[in-house]
Amino acid sequence: MKRLRGRRSDRRSERPARLIEPIPIANHGAQDGLAAQHQQLDRFVEEIALALERGDQPRADEVMRWFCSALEAHFTVEEEIVFAAVVGLDPTKEDAFRELREEHAHFRLHLPQVGRAIETRDPRVGLEVLERFAEQLRAHERREEQLLRTRG
Ligand SMILES: [Fe+2]
Ligand SMILES: [Fe+2]
Repeated sequence: MKRLRGRRSDRRSERPARLIEPIPIANHGAQDGLAAQHQQLDRFVEEIALALERGDQPRADEVMRWFCSALEAHFTVEEEIVFAAVVGLDPTKEDAFRELREEHAHFRLHLPQVGRAIETRDPRVGLEVLERFAEQLRAHERREEQLLRTRG
């Protein structure tokens, strides 16, 4: 016991304890899991764009439904599990993750417009609206992956 107490005080004198120690979230798979889901979402967007380019409306509509379903599931996993866990363990990230949640609300609001643009059956309109949405989504995904890589 004496030895342990001695060791602890030695360590304290080496460097001051941090209030929040770095938490290796990435080592527990959260970052990899989200990155894999981001890639899946990107593949859906590419497949919709390809279907529109070749005039395959039924395929574009079908993959758009998959994309909507996957995106909502992904947002739910992030908000209820990943963001909640990261902020719970490291409250200094609260503001950054609040912004990401607000962006989810923006995407949820605009997703039906993308669906309507795809259903107009004018591939140029569908492609333009889809690409604008996808660009914003990719920027959002990059920020999430960066935040999960950054230690507190
Ligand atoms: Fe997100
Ligand atoms: Fe995400």
